[in-house]
Amino acid sequence: MDQKPTVWLNNRIIPWEDATVHVLSHGMSRGSGIFDVFGIHPHEGHVYAFRMDKHLERLENTLRLLDMELKYSMEEIKEAVCKLTRENKSGRGMVKIMGFWAEEAIVNLVLDAKLDVAIFPVPQAIYMPNGHHDSITACFSKWRKLHPETIPVQAKACANYLNGYLMRKDAMQRGFDLGLNVGTDGFVAEGSVESVFIVKDGVIKTPPLGRILASVTRDSILRVAENEGMSVQETHLEKEDIYTADEMFTCHTGIKVEPVRRFEDRDLPAPGPVTAKLASLMDNVITFKDDRYSDWFQKLY
Ligand SMILES: Cc1ncc(COP(=O)(O)O)c(C=O)c1O
Repeated sequence: MDQKPTVWLNNRIIPWEDATVHVLSHGMSRGSGIFDVFGIHPHEGHVYAFRMDKHLERLENTLRLLDMELKYSMEEIKEAVCKLTRENKSGRGMVKIMGFWAEEAIVNLVLDAKLDVAIFPVPQAIYMPNGHHDSITACFSKWRKLHPETIPVQAKACANYLNGYLMRKDAMQRGFDLGLNVGTDGFVAEGSVESVFIVKDGVIKTPPLGRILASVTRDSILRVAENEGMSVQETHLEKEDIYTADEMFTCHTGIKVEPVRRFEDRDLPAPGPVTAKLASLMDNVITFKDDRYSDWFQKLY
């Protein structure tokens, strides 16, 4: 990508390269940054955000869980997203909103200041430079999901992604695309940046909320499946449930339904029939072919 988009930083629009902080900033040296990411989709000459309100609700929840406050209101952030994507003529991609303390934190651990805010339009060419694979391989990670009493796992906090980094690295070193972790309660949790679903005897199953991130894609898939009359269960999954699944897929904002073709040493149909149906239903949603979900899109420009 030659020309990077401009960035909204504390109410100023600046070049991508200038969106920097000091190495000793609290965000960097204490790992206190927070963020959220949602998809943006072009349609008939306009560009729409996918479930922006739900993502901003999650951002508010992150702030509450960490007792932090942004310098800007959610309304101001929405306006900034519209302005920034319009000015960049952003097409298909994502918008990433970051909250962080740019203040140096050599001694201070707790700061009173409100968080700085940066907003980045991220074109698909940046986050998916090699295109999209049809299916992936996955394994169990040796790293457990963080316990929610150590750090709130429902907060989209940068620090939580050190766990995600370790999981992904461990999986890649073993020759898999990604790893899934298990909580300290012994139940399957999620991937580094994705939720997990299995299909067993025609029932779509996914771990319940509480010890995983409240993925907006996960929620969308559950609602689309239910509206279609498909059988859905939010339920604790044992490792054995994963080993004996008929089908399996992961999901996140970037890729709505990503079939798993091999889990550990076991091959799976990818996509299996239920996964294929869900992928096609979700594809209809994000390509504006299913009017039932038109209120999931907010026009940006
Ligand atoms: C740990 C984790 N789980 C699940 C997801 C999927 O969430 P969403 O569908 O909102 O992108 C993410 C996304 O970044 C994540 O980091």
